[in-house]
Formats: sequence, C-alpha cells, structure tokens
Amino acid sequence: MKNKVIVTGGAGYIGIHTIVDLVENDYEPIIIDNFSNSSIKNILGAENILNVKLKVFNIDCTQEEQVKEVFEIEKNIVSVIHFAAFKSVEESVKNPMKYKENNIGSLQVMLNLCLRYNVKKFIFSSSCTVYGETNNQPVSEKIPFGKAQSPYAETKQTCEHILANHSINSVSLRYFNPIGSHFSGLIGDRSKDRPSNLIPILTSVAIGKYEKLNVYGGDYNTPDGSCIRDYIHVTDLAKSHIKALKYLHENNGKHIFNIGTGKGHSVLEVIKAFNNANNLNIKYEITSRRDGDIEQIYADSNLAKRELNWDAKITIEKAMKDAWNWELKK
Ligand code: WQD
Repeated sequence: MKNKVIVTGGAGYIGIHTIVDLVENDYEPIIIDNFSNSSIKNILGAENILNVKLKVFNIDCTQEEQVKEVFEIEKNIVSVIHFAAFKSVEESVKNPMKYKENNIGSLQVMLNLCLRYNVKKFIFSSSCTVYGETNNQPVSEKIPFGKAQSPYAETKQTCEHILANHSINSVSLRYFNPIGSHFSGLIGDRSKDRPSNLIPILTSVAIGKYEKLNVYGGDYNTPDGSCIRDYIHVTDLAKSHIKALKYLHENNGKHIFNIGTGKGHSVLEVIKAFNNANNLNIKYEITSRRDGDIEQIYADSNLAKRELNWDAKITIEKAMKDAWNWELKK
C-alpha cells in the first residue's frame, strides 16, 4: 500500500515538480487544484514523464465541504503538502484581501480537515519573504520575521504563526527564488498572471516577446550594484519535500527550514549566466529600483542539509539552460 499524500496546488510550478518526485519515490499523490493559476498541461506533462495516470480533484481549497469529499473518498491519507496559494507579490499589493482570504483561508481548511481525518503530518510551502529586509546575510531560520514587504509575505508569516500554534506535526519550507524546469521541458511555470519574476521575463526577452530586460536598480550596495537573490532549481526544491516527508516520519513537532542554495547571485550575474549557458546576448537596461525590492537575501541552508539530508545540487548555469529549454518548448 503506497503512502497517500494530498498535494494542494499540485498542478502549479513547484507542485507539479514535487508530484514527479513523489511518484518516483513510491508515494501516491492526490492532487487538489482549481487551476486558477496553473494548467492541466502540467498534469499531462507529468503523466507523460511518469507514465502513470494522476488522481486530480478540481477543487478550490477554501471550500471546506468540497475538500472534505476528497478526504471521504481517499482513505488513509498520511500527509498533506500544501502549495495552494496566490504568489504574485505585485498582485498582492493591489488586492490584499484576495490574498488573505485565499492563502490563509485555504490553510485553515486543510488544517481543519487534517484534524477531522486524523492526518498527522503537514508540509507547508513558505517563503524567504517572511524575513523581510535584513542585513543578516545569509539568513538563518533563527532570524525573527522582518517587516513583511507585501501582503503576500504577510500571508506567509501568518500561516507560519498558525502552524506554530497548531497541534499537527509540520514542516514549513522557506523557498528562496525557484527557477528552471524539469529537463524534459514537459512541466514548468504555467502561471496565468503576467510574469513579474526575473527568469520568466529574461526568457521572454530572449524569445522576442519583450524588447529588453529592465534591471531594477544598479545602485544597491552590492558588488555590481544590482540586487542579490538565492536562485534555486525547482527540481532541487521539489526534492526537499520528499526529504521533509521522511523527516516527519521520524520527528514530531513543528520545524522550519530554509530551502536555498546558500549562494547569492546578482541580477547582472544571472544575465551573464543565462547568456553564457545558452550562447545568447539578451538586451537589458538598468532602470530605477522596483518598489518593495530588498537589496539582497540568500539562504543559510545548513539546517536543511543537516536535518533533512537535503542539498541543492543544480548549478545556476544548468538552471539557465533548463529555463531556456522551457521557454522554447512550453
Ligand atoms: C528577483 C530580482 C528584481 C524582474 C520572488 C517571489 C517571492 C518569493 C521569492 C516564493 C529582484 C530583479 C526582476 C525584472 C529585475 N518566492 N528583477 N527585472 O522579488 O526576489 O521574489 O522570489 O515565495 O514570492 O516574488 O523575485 O524574480 O521578482 O526578482 O531586475 O524584470 O530580479 O529587482 O532583484 P523576488 P523576482
């Protein structure tokens, strides 16, 4: 009997890469996704990669009565991995209530049902944005929450508070900047909202959708003046969820881990890595800073290395190749 894991938001960018890993590690994922910001194409792509038929329930995770049906139909759920959330920082600023209702409401529904159906292990998709602006780089899990730079970040902080005060055993994974795609080019970021993240915009410029890349700020206190982030390949990121499931089989309580490479790259370094990896030369212009951007953040990921036996393995150059492959194939 395979361990059944409910995966909310399982058709999303990180969700679908985790689905592939779950099946490859002999789990049985039960996907709940309302496809509000993802596509059935990711499900079909994963089925093609895995050569299996995936179980998918097209349900909004804020609708408790509908989600309850999944727990009624699918007996013996061992864990829940909760990805379902809106993730656009820009959109959250324009529509904070939509983000609060969805991101916090869906967590509360899932926790209510875990209690009701005796599901004891919960993995939460958190974010490095909970740290806000801090000079303590690399950031470790010991650093307290900073001032949330957006309503999106605020929802992640609130969700972590809810989990910290809940009886369920949980792991919150604080993702840094997910990039790249599965080497097959069959699954990836199919978000419906206009891309605001660096890599999708970079590849859109490379393919000719946009004339040039605006580098938001060249006057930061960093070696080349552009912002620094910790860019982690989504396949490495997906693997951390399997490690967290195994960890929860042996450890009760509430746990938090940074999931990043531990290395920071500036925007200009990313552009250079993309050009070198793909033998391209994309056009960019250094423009004014973007509101809400912090100067630099990258992970101290030693706790995940030690406790989860997890580490990021894929280089940024390889990630840039996969990102370009995805743009060409999607
Ligand atoms: C990265 C860098 C921009 C676009 C994201 C998510 C957040 C969280 C962390 C998961 C910044 C610069 C960008 C462009 C640019 N992920 N940039 N020109 O803001 O670090 O946060 O990852 O929770 O949800 O939003 O990522 O890709 O938007 O920006 O210069 O056209 O690239 O200024 O320094 P960010 P991003």
